[in-house]
Amino acid sequence: MSFSGGLDEAAKHDVLTTIVVFGASGDLAKKKTYPALFHLFQQKLLPKRTRIIGYARTQMTADDFSKRVTSFFKPSDPADEVAGFLEICEYVSGKYDVDEDFQRLREEIDTNEHAMNKRESDERRESDERVHIYYLALPPSVFVSVGTQIKNNVYDGTCTNRVVIEKPFGHDLDSSRKLSQAIGGLFAEDEIYRIDHYLGKEMVKNILALRFANVFYEAVWTRHYISNVQITFKEPFGTEGRGGYFDEFGIIRDVMQNHLLQVLSIVAMRQPKSLRSEDIRDCKTEVLRRILPIQLEDTLLGQYVGTRDGSKPGYKDDDTVPKDSITPTYAQCVLHVDNDRWRGVPWVIKAGKALDEAKMVIRIQFKDMPNALFPNLARNELVLQVSPKESVSIKTIVKEPGLSTNLAMSELDLSYHKRYQDLKIPDAYATLILDVLNGDHSNFVRSDELDEAWRIFTPLLHQIETEQIVPLPYEYGSRGPKGVDEFPTERAGYKPTAKEYHWEPKSAASAGKL
Ligand code: BG6
Repeated sequence: MSFSGGLDEAAKHDVLTTIVVFGASGDLAKKKTYPALFHLFQQKLLPKRTRIIGYARTQMTADDFSKRVTSFFKPSDPADEVAGFLEICEYVSGKYDVDEDFQRLREEIDTNEHAMNKRESDERRESDERVHIYYLALPPSVFVSVGTQIKNNVYDGTCTNRVVIEKPFGHDLDSSRKLSQAIGGLFAEDEIYRIDHYLGKEMVKNILALRFANVFYEAVWTRHYISNVQITFKEPFGTEGRGGYFDEFGIIRDVMQNHLLQVLSIVAMRQPKSLRSEDIRDCKTEVLRRILPIQLEDTLLGQYVGTRDGSKPGYKDDDTVPKDSITPTYAQCVLHVDNDRWRGVPWVIKAGKALDEAKMVIRIQFKDMPNALFPNLARNELVLQVSPKESVSIKTIVKEPGLSTNLAMSELDLSYHKRYQDLKIPDAYATLILDVLNGDHSNFVRSDELDEAWRIFTPLLHQIETEQIVPLPYEYGSRGPKGVDEFPTERAGYKPTAKEYHWEPKSAASAGKL
């Protein structure tokens, strides 16, 4: 039983496939796109007849290109598999706005397809279907020019065309709409795959299964039982090396408007009619439409400063960041979903760089137990840990084991690394590229979803900028600015569990007191 097309849908079909990676000499391609493609190749999940063409401005020999695209492969990757993968890869250098360069690319694609076709005799060929995937691992400043070139000089109306693009999709509602219009003028919506790589993460993909394949979650998934929800993203490093880029965006645009809001929409949506991508995306969009724009008073902003001992720099110590920057590197915001299921339940999203740990967690806190048998109980929580180690746990109250009749906080714990010994979770990019190969849009952002996401955040972003709201300082490696722990309690009614409780196996004697 699987949802979407199943793992090997793409590989099963002998579709003649060309993947063009634009920006092939850049960081994203090197760190994410090529390792993901290689992973699929190793798992035999690329269609048998696949050609991968890297395209970028840099002039490079085939050798230099091979070194570059394999630089993020694992040292343990078998040499013969790497060599096999490189055999299906090649590199074409060209500018992003020159017709002849793109015509050369089209000729290269045609030549390759011809050669791949010849290799497979007519009887053995299972399909005459052809797919062109254009993966734009590029900054948004060249999206439209490259899109236009593809459309004018490479696009082939006789085959299936898919265009993959990466955030940022605009800067606010207005700029995003302009970009959507420009791209929408070139390609149909069902040809566009907007990546939000959080949608490819194991635990995020698991939310649908948990919610709609288990009777007991969905039964309590309403304001009648849930008090508040927190979705938290923490990174233990600053903007090292990306300060200049980051300063134009800030943490709200970088992580919240996309990754965290996407996760929220899956946690909050109603059950879709089917697992078809448009049904899922309809339900996500529907819930986004009911989210009210965020108010400044429902927001806590911070910016990190260097450590007192000088071992870690502050955000503004980065030479590429203006010395008077007020760009937030930390934020908490309270969102409200104004529908019958969620009215009155605050959703806190939190994100920060240069914090005390790396973590992405969805924490659903239930309401107080509505009976007086045991007074002053701590609250149940369902905690989905997306990273670093995937887990689902439910904070559950038990009788303290042994002769004691006290109550203790414990947990039902599904830690993936304990439960699945041979677990190998693929990188989000591998699962998303597999979806593109399968033509499955479920885990990609539709243009109306994007529009709603910007509608929710744009007034706040504009207010922060026009009123020049100064973020609170916090030390690199700390938990965040002053008020970070109190905010969810004060603004969303979150009741913290007693400090003695720790989520790790404990002896009975040290079971978490209530
Ligand atoms: C990116 C942000 O989209 O996501 C980065 O631009 C952030 O700032 C990254 O570091 C986090 O992704 P992951 O997969 O490492 O959690």
